[in-house]
Amino acid sequence: MAIKRPDQILDHEYDGIQEMDYPIPGWFNAIFYGSIVFGIAYALFYHAWGGPNLTQEFEADRKEHLALVKRANPPRVWTPKEVADAEKSPAVLATGKSLFNSKCASCHMADGGGQVGPNLTDAFWINGDGTTPFLVKTIQEGVADKGMPAWEDKFKAEEILALAVQVRAFKGTTPANPKAPEGTPIADTP
Ligand code: HEC
Repeated sequence: MAIKRPDQILDHEYDGIQEMDYPIPGWFNAIFYGSIVFGIAYALFYHAWGGPNLTQEFEADRKEHLALVKRANPPRVWTPKEVADAEKSPAVLATGKSLFNSKCASCHMADGGGQVGPNLTDAFWINGDGTTPFLVKTIQEGVADKGMPAWEDKFKAEEILALAVQVRAFKGTTPANPKAPEGTPIADTP
């Protein structure tokens, strides 16, 4: 942009240095006033009109990221035969037992009798019907608003199946301090 150069010299002088009266360039004023307008709009949007705060933006990004991870790595769906084989396998049960003792016993007790979490040995279920595929689903997804964590990011699919087989094996056992039944009685859980 052409700058107008008036001859006019301002009337002050310091140590022999004089100053000419150049106008402030238009691009500078545009940035200056533009940033004021932007600042007002920014403050109104985030502080008055309910724009997302950092935590909300982070949560939204995290959700998007988890959805992508899930799409790339969908939860394993076991066939009835795979489930039946796992239920009969002592090796699977042993894996399930040791994982249960280290990760689940704090809330459900090592014998499944329940404490923070419900009793897993009785025929009462809050979620699903107590069969292995339902147990897999509950363990994978958790029950977020009831304090049961989701485990799908922490265990491999085989480990979740092993945990479900272990929970299944609790049925009908007698824990030391059984928690009172919660949920719906499912009498015919096979
Ligand atoms: C921080 C405590 C906590 C931990 C750790 C925990 N759970 Fe839970 N669990 C709960 C709570 C609370 C519930 C009840 C959820 C509800 O009310 O729907 C629950 C419910 C369940 C249920 C469904 C019971 C029903 O009646 O529907 C299963 C199965 C289960 N947990 C298995 C596990 C396994 C397997 C692990 C370890 C990998 C585990 N839980 C670890 C707290 C926990």
